[in-house]
Formats: sequence, structure tokens, C-alpha cells
Amino acid sequence: MAVEQPKGPTIGVFDSGFGGLTVLRELLPLIPNAHYIYLGDTARLPYGSKSQTTIARYAVESARFLADRGADHLVIACNTATALALAEIEVSVTIPVTGVVEPAVAAAQLQHPNAKVLVLATAATVQSHAYKVHCAARGLDATEKACPLLVPVIEEGWIDHPVTRQVLSIYLREALDACSPDIVILGCTHYPLIAPLVSQTLKELGSTAEVVDSASATARTAALQIGSAPSASKSPATFECYATDSIEKFARLGSDFLGQPIPRVELLDLGG
Ligand code: DGL
Repeated sequence: MAVEQPKGPTIGVFDSGFGGLTVLRELLPLIPNAHYIYLGDTARLPYGSKSQTTIARYAVESARFLADRGADHLVIACNTATALALAEIEVSVTIPVTGVVEPAVAAAQLQHPNAKVLVLATAATVQSHAYKVHCAARGLDATEKACPLLVPVIEEGWIDHPVTRQVLSIYLREALDACSPDIVILGCTHYPLIAPLVSQTLKELGSTAEVVDSASATARTAALQIGSAPSASKSPATFECYATDSIEKFARLGSDFLGQPIPRVELLDLGG
């Protein structure tokens, strides 16, 4: 007689684009029996150059969509949405919500209790000073550096590309002129895709800073909150995937970023 698989949680994961797939990739081994509903709001990306009001409106619409699709836990796999709209998102749905900022800062402190922190993030995240505030609450000194050109090149799939290397090197040189960090937080969920490049460029510029990535820290926090234990079984995770623009591109690049095929991406219209 077939033994019925225990039904796992339904987890909604949201980002403005591919970046949140770095969180989903980290969640899969931690909660392998879940049904994942991923939404990439690619039509309205980048969030990082927009105002708080617009980011909050987009993020709340996306959160409500995932809750309406049956998610019983929401992971805001976007630093910009977390930094500028976590409170609005939390009151707009009745399910628990995990954001990215606090887990990343906690992971940085765990790695280096008195770290001088450099946060690389979008312009909106930096302007919100969410990282500075969370770091200060833990007694950590943070310098925030906006890197607005990184999301567009990563969304283009330019992971190991001369333009990406050049842009990153300029941002890091400017940041290292202003501080000598022990820890560099990748404060945008797109950035783990270029984490090796960040580490390599830091070394080339003479920095010994360690890199902490908000995606894996968030996945660990979400797994603790959702309460699932790692399983030895092959991942029976199932996916429902939505993008608000160019589903073909999302399926192609998204599969590379996730490290496994995304079987089907549906086009979603969330309005303007
Ligand atoms: N991945 C998002 C973040 O973590 C930002 C991308 C965007 O600017 O839309 O901040």
C-alpha cells in the first residue's frame, strides 16, 4: 500500500525579478517537501530606483497575490521590499512574513561579533538606512553603498562578464575608500549570483573582508520559523512560478539561477 507523503508547507517567495531565486535555492534543501509559489515582478523591476510609496504598493500587491494563491508563509526575498515596505506587507496579509534584512545582519554578527560592516545594496535600500538601523541595534557600525547598476547586469545574465567585473570594481573601490570592513553584506538578493566575483574583487583591492549573503541567512531563518527539518529524501518540492514580464526569459535564466529546471512560468498581470 502506498504511503502518503506528508503535505509540506506552501511557501510564497517574492522578489522584483530573479534575485529571489537565490533565496529559493537555499530554501530547497532546508524545506524539501514544500510547495513553492515564486513571483518575480519583472515588469516593474527595478524596485531599487523607485520611491517608498511605489515599492510598498508593488510589494503589497505581490504579497496579496501569493497569500491568495494559498501560501501559508511568505518570504520577502527582496531587500528593497523588506527595507521599505515590510511593515505594510505584514499588515496586508494574515500569514507570517520573513524579510531579508534582520537575518543578514544577525548572520554578519554571528560571523564577526564587532564587525565593521559594508552593505552593498540598491539605491532605495541604502536611502532607507534599514541596514544601518539594524546594525546599530546590534552595536555594529555599518557603511552603506548603493550599487544601482548591478541588478540590471545580473538580470541580463551577465554573471561572469567584463562589464559586471568593471562595475563591481568601481563600486568596491569607492566603498573601500570610505571604510575598512570586516564583513561585506550582500544586501540585495541578486548579488549572491556574483558572490565569487565580489570575494575575488575584494581580495584584488587588498581587503580581507568576508562576504555574508542575505539569501542564505534568510532561508535559514525562514526554515526555523516554518519549522521544517532537512530531509534525506530526494527533493519532492513542487513549484508554481509567476513572472509579470517575458516568461520565456524567466524560465531560461531562472533555471540557471535556481540550479534546476523551472518547468513552467505563468505570465501574471499585476497592473501598472
Ligand atoms: N533583489 C532586490 C533586492 O534584494 C532588488 C532588485 C531591484 O532593484 O528590483 O533588493
